[in-house]
Amino acid sequence: MKKDALLIFASTSGSTTLLAEHLARVFSSSIDLIRIPRECVFSETLNRKLIVLMSPTYAEGNLHHAWIEQGPLIFRTLAPGQRIALIALGDSRLHKATFAGALKVFHDILSQQNAQLIGDVSADEISYPFGPSNMGGRFPGLPVEFRKERAQTKERACTWLADCLRRADAH
Ligand SMILES: Cc1cc2nc3c(=O)[nH]c(=O)nc-3n(C[C@H](O)[C@H](O)[C@H](O)COP(=O)(O)O)c2cc1C
Repeated sequence: MKKDALLIFASTSGSTTLLAEHLARVFSSSIDLIRIPRECVFSETLNRKLIVLMSPTYAEGNLHHAWIEQGPLIFRTLAPGQRIALIALGDSRLHKATFAGALKVFHDILSQQNAQLIGDVSADEISYPFGPSNMGGRFPGLPVEFRKERAQTKERACTWLADCLRRADAH
């Protein structure tokens, strides 16, 4: 049976996989997990209480290549008004100028769709509040520095996701 929420992610070196699988374990009663491109089967409209899109940042502030390739198809199948929450991983040391830029890329694409973004985060709550995804003091989702803050990140992501699920439920 379909669960209330669906988390779709891509990963190359495994950090996003670790965090996505952790979230899926903690919220096992309410979240289904799909990894693209391997498990990408979207013949039906994507219609859940909440859809979480998750990408590591690559190529100077861009989405993971699997999102670049399969994203357009996935975005097209979203139900009108679908509630979406975003997570992007990044490296604040080697890629400070583009840190977690995938969040902004998701945001800019989805703002042109009939989607409802929830789960934005104040830059005051982020240890590394720089990069293009800091849009006037708020991030349009959760930026994650997984290497430096693994334990705190897992905890913070769980708190953030629980809040997104509550807000999606309240609508
Ligand atoms: C070639 C390459 C390019 C990267 N580009 C960026 C970037 O532009 N901005 C950023 O914040 N992180 C960047 N990163 C860091 C990754 O986003 C980070 O290591 C992430 O945790 C990787 O996720 P994954 O293990 O799920 O693939 C880059 C990493 C590599 C190897």
